[in-house]
Amino acid sequence: MKIDEIVQLKDAALREAAAAPDAQALEEVRIKYLGRKGMLPEIMKGLKDLDPANRPVAGQKANELKNELTDLVTERKAEFESAGSQSSPGEFDATLPGQWHRLGSRHPITQITERITEIFHNLGFTVAEGPDIETVYHNFDALNTPEDHPSRDMQDTFYLENGDLLRCHTSPVQVRYMETHKPPVRIIAPGRCYRRDTPDATHSANFHQVEGLYIDKDVSLADLKGDLSYFAQQLMGPDVKIRFRPHFFPFTEPSVEVDFTCHVCHGKGCRVCKNSGWIEILGAGMVDPNVFKAVGYDEYDVTGYAFGMGIERIAMILFGIQDIRHLYENDVRFLAQFG
Ligand code: DAH
Repeated sequence: MKIDEIVQLKDAALREAAAAPDAQALEEVRIKYLGRKGMLPEIMKGLKDLDPANRPVAGQKANELKNELTDLVTERKAEFESAGSQSSPGEFDATLPGQWHRLGSRHPITQITERITEIFHNLGFTVAEGPDIETVYHNFDALNTPEDHPSRDMQDTFYLENGDLLRCHTSPVQVRYMETHKPPVRIIAPGRCYRRDTPDATHSANFHQVEGLYIDKDVSLADLKGDLSYFAQQLMGPDVKIRFRPHFFPFTEPSVEVDFTCHVCHGKGCRVCKNSGWIEILGAGMVDPNVFKAVGYDEYDVTGYAFGMGIERIAMILFGIQDIRHLYENDVRFLAQFG
């Protein structure tokens, strides 16, 4: 084959490869020229019949054919492959494995708060809120707290430079609500509280409480016991009983601490309840007349009960959490267990 015939053949080969409409047509072009029985081996074989002076150039042109065609075929093959792997819109491959998205979960404190809110909602309570930064008046004075009460101490309560403080309980929400609403009142108030406690397994300087307040004509301690008994059974189970122990809070008279039967031994006595069969859950009582006076209610006309409970404590009991600090560390391995 003459030199210019080889050059023409190369041009034809490159044109055919460039025009191949798909991978199969391209492969056919490759076989036609470069395959074992293709045209290139034929040319190579024919080189020896050429005039020796022409052989090197003919050989060089044959090599160009081989190299340029190989490059073009490789390039176009890659194009066909990448086009083929992109599914066109509307194409859906139902055999592909699905994508797994890990869902988050609500924090245990949120879960318990919502559960408590739901139970009291069933009893006709609505949710009220108050500020985390409180006045001394709302946090202590209006709640009938004596001037020398230890909870007012700088060592127990965080005071701000302007004389306000970070509320040490949710009880000031009672005051704020009564100041702005006439009786009857039926509210619960969940929220953050702050105390200068050194953190350990059961203490945190920042924790949560739910406050409850029910004011109407002729509300009695029996209403308190009935409602808290319903609450205990809804929260912990139908067998749970409650008991009142006399106590003192400045803002209630009489005041009680409320125990639930132990969730572990159901009252028989075990290590968790220190063999008593009971677990202390909350503080409560009948609203002190001095609180009514402070908010402008007629203390001869209405009566009411109030209660307050720590949410962390209930979360720890219900979920079996041993250390309160787990609740604030936001370790996903911990939080993912409450999904
Ligand atoms: N405020 C109290 C505390 O922080 C809890 C409490 C007790 C709230 C009795 C009340 C109540 O409303 O009546 O320990």
